[in-house]
Amino acid sequence: MAWSARFASAKDLARAPRTNNHGTIFRVKKEKVSVTIRIAEAGDARAIAEMSRDHIESGLGWRYDQPHILRAMLRRESVVLAASERPTYVAGARPAIAGFAIMDFGDERAHLVLLAVQPLQRRRGIGRRMVEWLMESTLVAGMASVHLELRADNEAARRFYRALGFAETVLMPRYYNGREAAMRMIRVLRAPGPLPLSWRPPC
Ligand SMILES: CC(C)(COP(=O)(O)OP(=O)(O)OC[C@H]1O[C@@H](n2cnc3c(N)ncnc32)[C@H](O)[C@@H]1OP(=O)(O)O)[C@@H](O)C(=O)NCCC(=O)NCCS
Repeated sequence: MAWSARFASAKDLARAPRTNNHGTIFRVKKEKVSVTIRIAEAGDARAIAEMSRDHIESGLGWRYDQPHILRAMLRRESVVLAASERPTYVAGARPAIAGFAIMDFGDERAHLVLLAVQPLQRRRGIGRRMVEWLMESTLVAGMASVHLELRADNEAARRFYRALGFAETVLMPRYYNGREAAMRMIRVLRAPGPLPLSWRPPC
């Protein structure tokens, strides 16, 4: 059975344990600050789009602009996460976005579409925590594998994903705009195919 038949949507699923959207708060390693990871809101879309432009799509054209990010937030099959040093429910100005991630859920395959952390916030565990949140959702949703593509020359991100259990599968020349190569990576969660029944009603 497709995950979508078992859950209303990937977004509902990711939201399920955190219905107030206060998010998950964690202490940044070796520092006193805490970072909150939560479902992104419409007011975060511009900051997320600008991060994509500056830190992911630089030199390739700006595809994931604000309207594109807003559409992803509304799509039932997508989850957009935001990380910030303060949760949104604290009164006052909207907190600056420290990182974001977007994942699309298919029937069995999840696709990690975009992920970035602000340069001054890197190597504090924020990227890892966002991926862990998403991996938790993929497991509950019964996904068989998680896929992603990234610029082949992005050695830092390749190391990051390898550290998180992803394996490099195929190099795709001229993948971006017909000129730049991409590396495809995968993390296998289970054998593809129908899930075995783990519970049967008493008869
Ligand atoms: C890739 C990226 C998201 C990593 O985010 P981050 O918050 O800095 O990553 P973390 O601190 O959670 O790192 C987790 C582990 O990944 C590995 N890692 C992360 N960045 C690394 C780097 N620059 N070089 C080597 N290993 C790295 C390390 O093993 C690290 O653990 P450690 O710090 O305990 O050694 C961030 O560098 C980034 O935003 N890059 C630009 C955008 C991008 O390339 N996105 C991916 C393609 S869409």
